[in-house]
Amino acid sequence: MSDKKIIISESEMPRQWYNINSDLPRPLDPPLHPKTGKPLGPDDLSVLFPMELIKQEMSAERLIDIPEQVLDIYSMWRPTPLVRADRLEKYLDTPAKIFYKNESVSPPGSHKPNTAVAQAYYNKMEGINKLSTETGAGQWGSALAFACNMLDIDLTVYMVRVSYDQKPYRKIMMHVWGADVFASPSEKTQSGQSILAKDPDSSGSLGIAISEAVEDAAKNDNIHYSLGSVLNHVLLHQTVIGLETKKQFEKIGLYPDILIGCVGGGSNFGGFAFPFIPDKLAGKDIRLIAVEPIACPTLTKGPYAYDYGDTAKMAPIAKMYTLGHDFVPAPIHSGGLRYHGMSPQVSLLYNEKIIEAVALPQNPVFESAVIFAKTEGIIPAPETSHAVKTAIDEALRCKETNEEKTIVFNFSGHGHFDLSSYQRYLEGKLEDYEYPDEKIEESLKNLPKF
Ligand SMILES: Cc1ncc(COP(=O)(O)O)c(C=O)c1O
Repeated sequence: MSDKKIIISESEMPRQWYNINSDLPRPLDPPLHPKTGKPLGPDDLSVLFPMELIKQEMSAERLIDIPEQVLDIYSMWRPTPLVRADRLEKYLDTPAKIFYKNESVSPPGSHKPNTAVAQAYYNKMEGINKLSTETGAGQWGSALAFACNMLDIDLTVYMVRVSYDQKPYRKIMMHVWGADVFASPSEKTQSGQSILAKDPDSSGSLGIAISEAVEDAAKNDNIHYSLGSVLNHVLLHQTVIGLETKKQFEKIGLYPDILIGCVGGGSNFGGFAFPFIPDKLAGKDIRLIAVEPIACPTLTKGPYAYDYGDTAKMAPIAKMYTLGHDFVPAPIHSGGLRYHGMSPQVSLLYNEKIIEAVALPQNPVFESAVIFAKTEGIIPAPETSHAVKTAIDEALRCKETNEEKTIVFNFSGHGHFDLSSYQRYLEGKLEDYEYPDEKIEESLKNLPKF
């Protein structure tokens, strides 16, 4: 019998992050200043971020050392197990081998602390004792609350209204780790006030919550901002996932044929897939699939264009796939996949056809999540369930063609705080919402024109 879990020891944990910028087929288009439209320099970003993170954001160095203190905190849950989903294979009666990298074992329950800890560390090193951030599903907010608690930093979290109401326990988790949490849009900031003046019942969006958190940092010298996805340095920190996965496959003498991750802003997918890209560019036959909801089809339906990172146009303008910065998604249950934009690195790789993308409706995604929970035991986060569904689809395709492919997906988080979504699914109350093309066209009229 082969092992269920492929474990590597703490001493085998990667000591450097991998920077995809060094291997991109062409350089990234520069991020632009939201007011002037001119390329951003390090000084423009220094109101928001510590210098070390700005350097990482712009770096082309292939490997970047992980500080000892960050490794020490990582070791509370890393390396995470790579798990053979043999019970799922049996249920599907597929010849494919299915594996998942279990990032749900971190204290907050997702991949997000891989960057939260690093970001809190670099801020602390530069004397910052207060951070502000946004959160969608609550996973990022709780990851940063955990990290700030570890590094003794105060934190304010703007939580998208729909998740704030749907997920009261994520909020309490953040309170336990000492963070302040506000429903966004809030009356606390000018950006929030202006949205509420137009729409007092706004269900919020990540774009709006980002505006509120950025405003806090822009107006206060002693507050920095922290983002849980999209930016290059965030994806850099997440590469511990893919680097460990490669070592784990080496240990059992296998190499994946298909690698799958869900995408909101692209951080768990990027961190999982990027370390495999040099092999793919060198000719290795591996498919890398990003999975998004059809309610927020950024890669599959958006254009590749310069757009603002947030609704109030305070965050930098980036070249990315986008549904328009004033896109307000339907309140689907994958709060973390409701962002209008996409990591510029993931966007470039998609544009170059090095990675693929698919979009899924939420009911079949929950159906797959329940199959996974019944076979492998763990209840996946709704975001993660997008990757589960695509892994199941690929395994069923292998059954049709009788191919023994190796499929691996990133299990980005558990769904223990998403049970109200499961309840709605089990009661047959979830709607499948497809974002209409006309609405995308309408939003795209407001892309920046410089
Ligand atoms: C469990 C989980 N998976 C995935 C995501 C999507 O984010 P990203 O694309 O940055 O990995 C989120 C975002 O909140 C999440 O909580």
